[in-house]
Amino acid sequence: MAVTADSQRLDAQRIRADFPYLEELQDGKTLAYLDSAASTQKPRQVLDAMTRFYETSYANVHRGVYRLAERATEELESAREKVCALLNAPSAREVVFVRNATEGINLVAYSWGLNELGPGDVVLVTELEHHSNFVPWQYVAARTGAAFRMLPLGEHGELRLDLLDEVAGSDTVKVVAVGLTSNSLGTNNPVEQLAAWAHERGAIVVGDAAQAAPHRALDVQTIGCDFVALSGHKMCGPSGAGALWGRAELLERMEPFLLGGHMIRSVGDETTTWGALPHKFEAGTAPMAEAVGFGAAIDYLSAIGFDAIEQHEHELVTHALGALGELPWVTTYGPPPERRAGIVSFNVDGVHPHDVAQILDMEAVAIRAGHHCCQPLMRKLGVVATNRASFYLYTIPDEIDRLVAGLHRARHVFA
Ligand SMILES: Cc1ncc(COP(=O)(O)O)c(C=O)c1O
Repeated sequence: MAVTADSQRLDAQRIRADFPYLEELQDGKTLAYLDSAASTQKPRQVLDAMTRFYETSYANVHRGVYRLAERATEELESAREKVCALLNAPSAREVVFVRNATEGINLVAYSWGLNELGPGDVVLVTELEHHSNFVPWQYVAARTGAAFRMLPLGEHGELRLDLLDEVAGSDTVKVVAVGLTSNSLGTNNPVEQLAAWAHERGAIVVGDAAQAAPHRALDVQTIGCDFVALSGHKMCGPSGAGALWGRAELLERMEPFLLGGHMIRSVGDETTTWGALPHKFEAGTAPMAEAVGFGAAIDYLSAIGFDAIEQHEHELVTHALGALGELPWVTTYGPPPERRAGIVSFNVDGVHPHDVAQILDMEAVAIRAGHHCCQPLMRKLGVVATNRASFYLYTIPDEIDRLVAGLHRARHVFA
């Protein structure tokens, strides 16, 4: 177990032994991988579970009556139960496997939005949103004639809940789309409060949990969202498997998103009826091995404990903000450590973020530079791009110190 007995502190050094990427050296150095908000590295336990599935349980699911196919189906459904438990969802029927959070949100925007929205309705997003929880809503609003509005941010990149009534006016807000945690600034948003406001007005709430689910325990029965989307690859799982949770009564009423095999009840020459939940939303062959890997990742993270992971990231982000705060030529963005996940966006005076990231790569430090799929936020901050360092359970303070040393070098070279 990689959590020390005396407290809920996580033992990152022991955890690192599970991650093969750390065995590969870059220019003789261990890679300081500080881009976990984009995608996380994978532990052996996840890779082994997928290999085992391919070697011993592989067949197409929900189709065959032979034992191998039944075993494959059981493995997929067991992974669904794990996602259900992760989110404390009332039923695994409410958990739909999708490729990633983007697909989950598109599913809701198309299947719910195209049918429920119209002229006179308001779609409300926030200035913090990732494009995945912004563009589908902007598009569906335009297609249906609904108004598309943004809740502004305050000084530290936090939502201005005090402006909600003003932004809505006397119009009918039908949906509020909000990220639980910002991928650019790390801000943990007060989603429960926002959901209470939305529900009072009869709106549904679509929560983008792509950056929250990897880092803290979530409970869809208390968080106030009607839908929650997440990506397995951002929480030690493989690419290609994510999940959408939705309230059964909403999912039941919705039209399917993708059409084809597996999602039907019966196909007539003229019309087709849809299968039961969640299959109505799972057309075609499922991401089977990916779902099994996602389930193994949930087991892995749950054994360590989300409280320990959150605490570890809090310590890292406090360390990073402290160290960056001592450099007068570095600007950091976002709230104080208490209200953010392990993500830090910053800029170095006079040095383009891409140049910073390139210099850091020479030091075997991997960070992200760009708009982070948040162009509305970048406009709000008045920048075209930022650097972003993001941490996870395998990150250690020494890697943040290497980042800071690399920034000194970047400044020396460019500024
Ligand atoms: C907050 C947030 N939402 C959505 C996404 C989209 O995730 P994916 O690319 O896995 O669909 C990301 C990815 O960075 C994200 O950070």
